[in-house]
Amino acid sequence: MSALPLRVLRGRLLQPHATEPRFTLWPDALLHLDDAGRITSVVAAPPGCPTPETWPGAVLVPGFVDAHLHFPQTRILGSASGPLLPWLQTSVFPEESRFADRAYAEPVAATFCERMLRQGTTMAAIYSSSHPGATDALFAELDRRGMRALAGLTWMNRGAPDALVRDTADALAATEALVERWHNHDGGRLRVCVTPRFALSCDEPMLRAAAGLAERHGLWIQTHLSENPDELAFTAQAFPGARDYLDVYESFGLVNERTILAHCIHLSDEEWGRLAARRAVIAHCPDSNFFLGSGCMPLARALAEGVPVALGTDVGAGRTFSLRRVAASAYDASLVVGAPVSPEVLLWLATRGGAVALGLGDQAGCVAPGYAADLVALEAPPSGTTGGAALSTLIDALLFQHDAGPALATVIQGRVRWGASPTRS
Ligand code: GUN
Ligand code: ZN
Repeated sequence: MSALPLRVLRGRLLQPHATEPRFTLWPDALLHLDDAGRITSVVAAPPGCPTPETWPGAVLVPGFVDAHLHFPQTRILGSASGPLLPWLQTSVFPEESRFADRAYAEPVAATFCERMLRQGTTMAAIYSSSHPGATDALFAELDRRGMRALAGLTWMNRGAPDALVRDTADALAATEALVERWHNHDGGRLRVCVTPRFALSCDEPMLRAAAGLAERHGLWIQTHLSENPDELAFTAQAFPGARDYLDVYESFGLVNERTILAHCIHLSDEEWGRLAARRAVIAHCPDSNFFLGSGCMPLARALAEGVPVALGTDVGAGRTFSLRRVAASAYDASLVVGAPVSPEVLLWLATRGGAVALGLGDQAGCVAPGYAADLVALEAPPSGTTGGAALSTLIDALLFQHDAGPALATVIQGRVRWGASPTRS
């Protein structure tokens, strides 16, 4: 579904601010796009405007950004064998082992991309399995769908079945080949991300090699940090010289402003300070954190410390591909820790904030001239209120009405990639 690029769109619009976590509501906006799918103008539709509403009754929001999820866990989403370490052994590793077979991975890649697009996700940071064929299949599918992504072959050389572990030289060679084939594909729409699974999966030479590879090619890095108390205890045993969990990664040069760290639940005050100083990104995954009983990341604190934050589904510990559901979980988690974060801030983190956090803030995530037209049309109740109340009523409905269906349409760079054909003038 990638018909001709749209040249004009009309509808209710939630427009994010570029740098502050807030939105402007346009009751009836008219957007013009160029033939490359970039927005050239956003204006209020004039009286008697001949352009019909593109998706009648819908509200347009920027495409959602999923800052953390696992492609080879698509089929085991919802497996309730937590907490983290037994869940990995029982549910995850047997399934990820099947991705050694590219023929198994290919249809899963198609399902995986479709499930993201159905929920309005246009950009993501993705873990593949530890297999080159499956990872190539994932990139090929992302490319076919026009999606924006950071994705990486998962590095692990211990603590998992033979079908998943790969020695450092092998992981390095496989990732170098993926860099050659896919990194910066289509003007940077697809990028290869260095992906050491977590400290317990990688020995010291592997972590050192991961940092070296990222440095050589200017690649982003993604890993997991401080998710579960047993994981913390085993990590301290495995790296007795490290002052804390963050230091394991820091000491190898793996933590900088191009690093995405999933979870970050059980950090010490000292770790918070160092994380903020290094400008690494937290991928906050509250639905997964609830499902595995991992705990609540203190989101208000992260924002107050100035740490860049994006939201992640963490499929398949997360039970949904919907960033709206994840934003709702983030709201619940913020209540649990007694420091509520507003729905408006959460919607911004799920869209514009995610694009900035993943390094694509100059191309996408804004609905303004010069940005790619990456948009989602969502079904929304008509607003009976006006002014600020209309904005908050609408955002509350988008995040908290869980029975709302998938997106009506998902548009990337001006092309409909999922959902209803637009009404054309
Ligand atoms: N830590 C290491 N691997 C994983 C994973 O696949 N999911 C989650 N939630 N945490 C992890
Ligand atoms: Zn994860």
